[in-house]
Amino acid sequence: MTTKPFKNPRAQHGFQGRSCSILSVGSYVPERILTNAELEKMVDTSDDWITSRTGIKERRIAAENEFTSDMAAAAAQRAMQSAGIKAEQIDLIIVATITPDMMFPSTACLVQQKLGARRAAAFDVEAACSGFIYALEIGQQFITSRTYDTVLVIGAEKLSTIVDWTDRNTCVLFGDGAGAAILQSRPKSHGLLTACMGADGDKSDLLYMPGGGSMCPATKNSIAAGLHYLRMDGKETFKNAVNAMLTAAKEALKRCELDITQIKCVIPHQANRRIIEAVGERLGAREDQVFVNLDKYGNTSAASVAIALDEAVSTGVVQRGDLVLLVVFGAGLTWAAAVIEW
Ligand code: ACO
Repeated sequence: MTTKPFKNPRAQHGFQGRSCSILSVGSYVPERILTNAELEKMVDTSDDWITSRTGIKERRIAAENEFTSDMAAAAAQRAMQSAGIKAEQIDLIIVATITPDMMFPSTACLVQQKLGARRAAAFDVEAACSGFIYALEIGQQFITSRTYDTVLVIGAEKLSTIVDWTDRNTCVLFGDGAGAAILQSRPKSHGLLTACMGADGDKSDLLYMPGGGSMCPATKNSIAAGLHYLRMDGKETFKNAVNAMLTAAKEALKRCELDITQIKCVIPHQANRRIIEAVGERLGAREDQVFVNLDKYGNTSAASVAIALDEAVSTGVVQRGDLVLLVVFGAGLTWAAAVIEW
C-alpha cells in the first residue's frame, strides 16, 4: 500500500456514485504452444530475429474447434470461481475482441449462454488491443451509477484465424487467449480510480483487416487476395504505440496526483518488449516495476493486459491495496491507461 496520499478523480464534481473494484481475475490460454523454432520452419525467420526484435519466444494457438467464446468463458469461470460468484449473479457481460466467433450475434451473448448467466445483458466492444481497458471503463459506469451490481468484463482473441501464416512480418507476433475480471463495488476501496482513453481514426490504415465487413464482404476474389488477414505497418505502429501509451499513462497518473514511484506494478500491452521498455523508461519506472509475459504468449490483443493482470495477481506481484497502472495501445488507432487501487 502506498504511504503518500493520492486523489480519486471520480470523487469530485459532487459525485454521488460508489466506487468500482475488480473483485477477481482469471485467464485461459490454449494448450498448443507454437515456438519460434517451429515458425522457422514455416516462414523465413529465426528465433534470434523474433527474440531480439520483439521479445517473444512462443505463443498459444487455439484448437480448430476452440473459439473466442470458449476461451472467454473459460477465463470467466476462473474469475468467478476465485471470487465465489455464481452465474446468476452476473448482471452484464462485456467482451472486448476483434476476433468474434461470428459477425453477429455478439461473442458476449455466446459467453452468456456458455456460463448460464441467464440474467445478464451482453454486448461486445471493439477497440482492438485497447479493448480490455475500454470495456473496464464501460463496466465501471454501470457499477458506480448503481445500475448493476456485478459486471463481467472479458478480453478474448483467436488471432490465429486472422493472421497470414505465410507473412513473416506479422505471423510471429500474435497468439490466442482470454482474460476476465469481475467488477463490483467493494467497501472502502477506491478500485478503478481513472481511465484515460483515446483514439485517432486518421491512422486506421496502420493496422486493419480489410475483408469480411460491409466494405468488403467475403467473395472468392477477396479471399484469394488475402483480404481476411490483418495488415500492419509495423514501424509506424511502433512509434505511435510508444507516444500514445506514454501520454495516456502520464495523464492517468496526473489525474490521481500520483508519481510513478507510488505504482507497484505497470502492466503494459504485451506487443513488443522494445515498446514496453521504451514506455517504462520514459515513465521513469524501474525494470522490476514493469510486468512482462509476452515471451510466453506474444500479442493477444484485447486479452493481453487481462492475462498479464491475472498472472501478476496469482503470482503475488500485485496484492490488495497496491496501485496498478494498466496501459494499452491498438488498432484504430486506440489507446488507454487506467489506475487501479487493487
Ligand atoms: N523474421 C526475419 N526478418 C523479418 C521478420 C521476421 N519475422 N519480419 C520482418 N523482417 C525483416 C523485414 O522484412 C525487414 O527487412 P528489410 O530491411 O530487408 O526490408 C527487417 O526485418 C526489418 O524490419 P522492420 O519492420 O524495420 O523491423 P522492426 O524493428 O520495426 O520490427 C516489428 C518489426 C517487430 C513488427 C515492430 O515494428 C513492431 O513490433 N511494431 C509494432 C507492432 C505492434 O505493436 N502491433 C500491434 C498493435 S496492437 C493491436 O491492435 C493488435
